[in-house]
Order: sequence, then C-alpha cells, then structure tokens
Amino acid sequence: MRTWSFSSAGTLFFGRHAVRHHLQDACERVRAKRAFIVTDAILVKAGLLAQTVEPLRAAGITFDVYDKVTPEPGVELVRECIAAARASNPDVIIGLGGGSNIDTAKLVAMILAHGGDPLDYPGDCRVPGPVKPLICIPTTAGTGSEVSPAAVFTDTANHMKVSCLSPFLRPNFAIVDPLFTVSCPPKVTADSGIDALTHAIEGLCAVNNDDFPLPSGEKSVYQGSNPMATMMAKQAIYLVGSFLRRAVKDGNDLEARDGMALAGTLGGLAFSNAGVALVHAMEYPVGGAVHVSHGAGNGLLLPYVMRFNDTVRASENSLIGAILNNGGRGDGIAEVEQLRKDIGIPTRLRDIGVKEEMLPGFAAKAFAIKRLMRVNPRMPQNEGEILDIYRAAW
Ligand SMILES: NC(=O)c1ccc[n+]([C@@H]2O[C@H](COP(=O)([O-])OP(=O)(O)OC[C@H]3O[C@@H](n4cnc5c(N)ncnc54)[C@H](O)[C@@H]3O)[C@@H](O)[C@H]2O)c1
Ligand SMILES: [Fe+2]
Repeated sequence: MRTWSFSSAGTLFFGRHAVRHHLQDACERVRAKRAFIVTDAILVKAGLLAQTVEPLRAAGITFDVYDKVTPEPGVELVRECIAAARASNPDVIIGLGGGSNIDTAKLVAMILAHGGDPLDYPGDCRVPGPVKPLICIPTTAGTGSEVSPAAVFTDTANHMKVSCLSPFLRPNFAIVDPLFTVSCPPKVTADSGIDALTHAIEGLCAVNNDDFPLPSGEKSVYQGSNPMATMMAKQAIYLVGSFLRRAVKDGNDLEARDGMALAGTLGGLAFSNAGVALVHAMEYPVGGAVHVSHGAGNGLLLPYVMRFNDTVRASENSLIGAILNNGGRGDGIAEVEQLRKDIGIPTRLRDIGVKEEMLPGFAAKAFAIKRLMRVNPRMPQNEGEILDIYRAAW
C-alpha cells in the first residue's frame, strides 16, 4: 500500500460571522500590519468589502484594495493587480470573492515572493518556496480555492485556462462565512455549486492512490483517491444533493447557504488531495474559447464524463446516485442530469457558443494536460476518445 497525505489551508475558520470574529486573529498570526485586498466591484457594492475591512480597521491594520477582478481573469488583469500590489508593499494578501478573486490573490502572493510573470508558473510544483502570507475569504460556495493549492487564470493568447499547482499556494487561512454567499445571484450559486459537485465526484472517482501513475522524477499535488478525500467527497455530494436546489431557488435560505458553503470547502479538500480529472481537463479549452463560467462548463460536461468512466466506476456512480437522492434511486448519471436541469446549467456545447469544428482542437488541448489525465480512473488513450465525449456533449 502506498502512503498518502492530506493537506489543507493552514487553518480553516468556518461559520456565520467568521470574518468578523477571526480575520483580526488571522492577520495577527501572520504578523500583518499592512494588507492588500483583491476583490471586485460587485462585492464592494454588496457590502462585503466593508464587512471585511471593519475588523482590519479595529486592529489598526492599514490596507489597499484592488477591486477590478473580472470572472475567469486573463493574465493581463492579473499583471495589473500584481503591479498595484507591488506599489502597496503589503505583508499579507487577502483574497475576497469567488475563485476568480481568490486565485488572483494567490498569484499576487506568489509573484510578490518570487518575481517573474504568472505565465512562468503554470503546471505542477513550479513555485520555488513559500509565498506572501495569504488569507482567503470565499463569497461563492464552490471552488474550494480557499483551501486548495491551485490558482487558475486564462492564458489569453492561447485561449486556454491554465493552473499553477503548488503546496505553497494553499492559503495560511481560509475564512468561510456562509453569510458572505447570501448575495450570490441564482446563476452564480448554481454554477459554483455544480463546480463543488464536480470536485467531489472527480475526487471520489479518481484513480486509486495505489495505482496513481506518476512517472518517477515528476511531482504532483494530486495523488489519486484516498480514504480521507473520499470521506469528504461523499459528504460534499450529500450536501449538494440536499441544499443546492434550495440555495438557487431562495438565496436567503440560510440553512442551504450553510450547507453549500461547507460543500464547497469539503469538495475543495477532496479534489485538492485526490485530484480533478477529465471533466476539468475538458472544461479548460472550452472556458478559454467561449464565454462560459468554469462551473457551468464543468456541470455541462460532468454526466458525459461519468458515462465514459462508468466502465470502471459503475459502483461509485450508483453510490453517487444514492447519496444525491438521499438513499433513493442509485443512478448517479441520471441524478446529476436531473440536478443540472433543475438549476439551469446548459446541457449541450452548441448552446454555449461552441462550433463543431472547434472540438478536435479542444480534444488535443485536453489530452495534453497529463496531470489531469492521469487522475482519471479510465485514462483516455488518445485524443479520439476525448473527441467522442465532446461530440456526445455537442
Ligand atoms: N483554485 C482552485 O482550486 C479553483 C477550483 C475551481 C475553480 N477555480 C476557478 O475559479 C473561477 C470561478 O470562480 P467562482 O465560480 O467562484 O466564480 P467567480 O469568482 O468567477 O465569480 C462569478 C461572479 O459572481 C460574483 N459574485 C461572487 N460572489 C458573490 C456574492 N457573494 N454576491 C454577489 N455576487 C458575487 C462575482 O463578482 C463575479 O461576477 C474560475 O476561474 C475557475 O477556473 C479555481
Ligand atoms: Fe473546478
């Protein structure tokens, strides 16, 4: 039996008003005197920046704010944010927002510590050492970026989402306050929520840790499924099944917001140790080429990939069905399709602007992401197998 490890953010604070109660403590524990906050205009308007700076002011911590992050940021925006941060000379970076803002904050913390350009770092384990102290406060329930070792952005010239993966990109502190997600509109709730489900399902169905095909000499933050990631993935799936429809239907349903906030973080803990796989690999070229959110792209592709994996993950697919349906019918693919429909996730690539002639290029790009291919329980043998899945989804 191979050994496995389990990593998270340094400390996770979770619960209503967690920011008010714990942000000061988090700053003090990294000896911060000056913060740089990475966020966006929508969250400023929603009052979430004001709630974040309140404890900073009370603690006498000065701060600057960059509030121009846009969803799925391109490298140019990330560079602009880095320049603003450099001018501010902070000793802690605070990412406030969905995955887009948190990942931008991670990239800032990385470049401020090690220099260079964001495009120097995509791939596995290329960050040479600790980054600037990082506190992440999610305002969506989905990406799990607040606990993960990943930072995703768009390589605009290549029309491709890219990801920097490193143990050094796990934040020092994740402060998850479900009340910070209450202002999420239904579409953001649905898209980020199905991303959480995708993380949990890909983590649960990942190749077994014992069989993880890591070539000698290569490093990977992912390691295949292990009992702890599996446990968290199952609970995340259960919470999504119980609460995602409710959170989309009524954003003020606080019990549903609590449940989904935990689902997002647990999904993040699961995937960031076991790995994400073919769904994410196939979403990256789609997300780079057409304007679809990461979550919607993943949700669209998820059942098609589950079907591809069913030859080796039939019992997991049944289990997923039973968990999603609270012990009822055990067809995971059908349950995911039903959930996707109920929360308004698109079901066909053609409906989100993908042209049929784009598919072979997508398949080549997805197949090239070896670090994700090797996590998939049924490793695609060639681009053609991936193209067939894209065609089914088109
Ligand atoms: N680093 C990781 O581990 C990881 C994992 C999964 C996804 N991602 C990345 O995260 C990004 C997607 O993140 P996301 O799904 O959280 O969405 P997002 O950060 O792109 O936000 C989407 C929109 O929702 C708005 N929003 C967010 N919170 C809100 C709130 N509380 N109230 C009102 N509006 C709100 C934002 O302003 C934005 O306009 C993608 O780039 C994806 O690739 C990263
Ligand atoms: Fe994701």
